[in-house]
Amino acid sequence: MSVIENAIAYIQKLFKENADGHGVDHTMRVYHNALNIAKHYDLCDLEIISLAALLHDVDDHKLFNTINNANARYFLSRENMDNDRIELVCNIINSVSFSKNKGKHPESLEGKIVQDADRLDAMGAIGIARTFAYGGKCGRDMDSSVNHFHEKLLLLKDLMNTKEAKEIAENRHRFMEQFLCELNEEII
Ligand code: NI
Repeated sequence: MSVIENAIAYIQKLFKENADGHGVDHTMRVYHNALNIAKHYDLCDLEIISLAALLHDVDDHKLFNTINNANARYFLSRENMDNDRIELVCNIINSVSFSKNKGKHPESLEGKIVQDADRLDAMGAIGIARTFAYGGKCGRDMDSSVNHFHEKLLLLKDLMNTKEAKEIAENRHRFMEQFLCELNEEII
């Protein structure tokens, strides 16, 4: 089994009981988004991108009580990965989060791609579905979920790093605006 296949098996086990939009399905979409963007860049490290995408939520504070990327590090050392590559993956994971990094962009191309990949999955139809699924799980009312669009999701299109992600983000942004418009009309 390759390290990528092992990472997929690892997250499947870790996220087994998660159905709030942060589970395996989200991670697999981020992984595929990242590969789709990465194919436009000859000089990127695909293994680092894949592992950072697959492991980007394994220490998410909303889901796990770990410190210092413990789950990611546990997996990567079990795979006998070199220490400097483990650091590379963990640095990317830590630079991806929206709340922890506000306006900051990751420095490496690999980090930029994974951040874009994760943010794309918070937009469009899938972003809408995830917002209400997560809101429901936390007992949030609809107004607070709608607020989340204004506080975060509608800001994402201007924060993309790569031109490939920007293009996809434009469409997903437009769709969210249409949705909010329609929702507003139906609610009144
Ligand atoms: Ni994520």
